[in-house]
Amino acid sequence: MKKLIVANFKMNQNIEEAKAYFTKFVSLFNGERADVIICPPYISLPLASFFTRGSKIKLGAQNVSDEEQGAFTGEISADMIKAVGGEYVIIGHSERRNKFKESDKLINKKIKTSLKNGLKCILCVGESGLDKNAGKTGEVIRKQLEEDLKGLYENELESVIIAYEPIWAIGTGNNATVKDVEFVAKIIRKVILENFSEKASRDIQLLYGGSLNEKNYQALLSATGIDGGLFGGVSLKVDAFLNIANSVK
Ligand code: 13P
Repeated sequence: MKKLIVANFKMNQNIEEAKAYFTKFVSLFNGERADVIICPPYISLPLASFFTRGSKIKLGAQNVSDEEQGAFTGEISADMIKAVGGEYVIIGHSERRNKFKESDKLINKKIKTSLKNGLKCILCVGESGLDKNAGKTGEVIRKQLEEDLKGLYENELESVIIAYEPIWAIGTGNNATVKDVEFVAKIIRKVILENFSEKASRDIQLLYGGSLNEKNYQALLSATGIDGGLFGGVSLKVDAFLNIANSVK
């Protein structure tokens, strides 16, 4: 099966930089080894959509409002994302949980609103370094998953991808080990089995993210139970990210 390679640009790249990036990426991506989803800032989505039209590259947003429409100054709705070519949205990234104080309850509502409006979700979960050192990884991941996915129907889960992004590994150069990733992949699938079904637990796509780079991605994305990766910093370097997307095994 092809790996799923997802780019999260975070708050990087203006429209000119995005234009140069997408022009190059679209012309050199071979689509043979990986399915690719790129999540630029909202403001670059229309341009990215224009450049990726007719290609195999899919687009996503990095956040979405939990509300559908109305007096929510500065917010962007799921419908607006879809209308400019976004098919996915990253929800529950630790930067949103921690820097913007997003709760599991809010994340749950964002997922429901997105699914209702036809957006697929990439739900991020992950423990802090303190939790890891206290041996609480499993407990933290279970709580996040159960609260974030609460009330979803099993068929809705087909439009959800889960990314394990340990907070201590994000942007630190300190990636998780294959053993860490396999341990958590097993926990995630167990929680899905207990709350949904065996089929859902088998079929759900799991990503690893956190300091992935050109040297470590093959090993980490080959971890048992892992279907792909969520890339931050390295995804901004078009040549490096092309190399990863074109050669991942
Ligand atoms: P880095 O790859 O820069 O560690 O970021 C990972 C991430 O947060 C992707 O969502």
